[in-house]
Amino acid sequence: MEYIPGELELYLDAESIAYTVSQIANAVDTDSQGVSLTVIGVLKGSFMFLADLLRQIETPVANVEFLRMSSYGSNTVSSGDPHRLDELPDVVVEGRDILVIDDIVDTGLTTKNVRQYLRGKNPASLRLCCLLDKPERRQVNVHVDYIGVAVPDLFLVGYGLDVDDRYRQLPSIYSINQ
Ligand code: PRP
Repeated sequence: MEYIPGELELYLDAESIAYTVSQIANAVDTDSQGVSLTVIGVLKGSFMFLADLLRQIETPVANVEFLRMSSYGSNTVSSGDPHRLDELPDVVVEGRDILVIDDIVDTGLTTKNVRQYLRGKNPASLRLCCLLDKPERRQVNVHVDYIGVAVPDLFLVGYGLDVDDRYRQLPSIYSINQ
């Protein structure tokens, strides 16, 4: 059995996450008739959600790419200045139907940055998908097409989310006592 450190308190169990992921997959499929998606995961936090979501999506996926962004660094609050740590070739995005996948929208700055960056590469369409949304923390208005669960302003880890790169591997989501 998995060891869960005392500083963690269960917030969303693996079964609830799986249900949420399947609901998002259904919505994406409904909106994607006749297209083939280019999926772009925002690293690192999205890796587990992306892997599960793609296994549920029935829409053809033409390509899977990743974009590395960082806003928290080793802090427990967003820096307010998300950095793009790598680049995508224009050809990956231009004329493609893009689905961006991220684990959480907090201040919205990462989402805004990613949207602007990809929009500048002239995709045929651009949709964003996030498992978790922390609306209380929003600093900028961003449009997110698919949101799994709205959450309060707790520091959450597990299922890809980390504190200082720890706990990403946990299959459930936990709040961490600070
Ligand atoms: C987290 C998360 C989102 C972003 C959301 O990434 O994965 O990409 O922060 O925060 P924002 O809405 O305030 O911009 P983080 O920078 O922690 O990097 P990571 O994915 O590598 O953990």
